[in-house]
Amino acid sequence: MGAGMHLKIIGSAAGGGFPQWNCNYRFSRVVREGQPGFQSRTQSSLAASANGTDWVLFNASPDIRQQIAGTPELQPRTDGPLRGTPIRAVVLTNADVDHIAGLLSLREREPFAIYATDRVLEVLDANSIFNVLDRSIVARRRLPLGEGTDILDAGGSPTGIRVETFAVPGKVALFLEDAARDGFGTEEGDTIGVRIGTESAAGTALYIPGCARIDEPLKQRIANAACLLFDGTVYHDDEMIRAGVGAKTGARMGHLHIAGEGGSMQLLADAPIGRRIYVHINNTNPILDENSAEHAAVSAAGWEVGYDGMEIRL
Ligand code: MLT
Ligand code: MN
Repeated sequence: MGAGMHLKIIGSAAGGGFPQWNCNYRFSRVVREGQPGFQSRTQSSLAASANGTDWVLFNASPDIRQQIAGTPELQPRTDGPLRGTPIRAVVLTNADVDHIAGLLSLREREPFAIYATDRVLEVLDANSIFNVLDRSIVARRRLPLGEGTDILDAGGSPTGIRVETFAVPGKVALFLEDAARDGFGTEEGDTIGVRIGTESAAGTALYIPGCARIDEPLKQRIANAACLLFDGTVYHDDEMIRAGVGAKTGARMGHLHIAGEGGSMQLLADAPIGRRIYVHINNTNPILDENSAEHAAVSAAGWEVGYDGMEIRL
């Protein structure tokens, strides 16, 4: 029985992961030590299936090898051919390192399809290292903005997953920032959100791992989703500065903070959504501490804190 839709958060951390390789901030330190109340997290990625057999990844993180190793559904079938994968397609929501670098680990002449906006496809095209994915084997397909697209495998067969894309306020990938240009050269299509659905699922899920602002059109889009997976990078806009690990605010990085006036918790407080889950959580975010006041505050507001391996069935 494959009715409905199965989502699995395979990576719930922001770029860098939790712990981050070079980070000695108290959260990374205690999760390394195995302190109760802290769970390690890999970088940002979501898997979706309409039938339990064919899977579509949303973003390919640098941790994809570890994520596949920890997710039996994404491994070659034991009774399958000598080489194979249940991963039929990868949908990209932006060109951040934490969302595209995993593509390089999917080389080995295995057919699947990549879906992305023109802007993100241009980044792949401009960086010849992605040619390790031979285009005659790994199809690159354009996701039109504001439209619905049936996600097909490399051979053109339906995966059963359908996405609808929409531009969200955001920022061009860090490594593409142009200091001389307005908004660092950010253009529409650099960051998108996706509505994920299937023919048989009772509801749709919205996946928005990066989002700088919640405006009225976005609020309307979010309304009535069965599940919202939303940018939970930082709790406070100036959190990285307060922690002493960096000079950037959440806003500067293209990420809306969670707490307080103008934060996502407040802006979405009255939005009619089923489950609401924070993903893309930075290693400075106090919600990573299950015993913190901040974790209690998001829980009280109806939010769940995404973790690796978290499953959602719609
Ligand atoms: C982000 O989400 O802001 C980026 O992944 C940051 C980065 O590239 O490290
Ligand atoms: Mn990111």
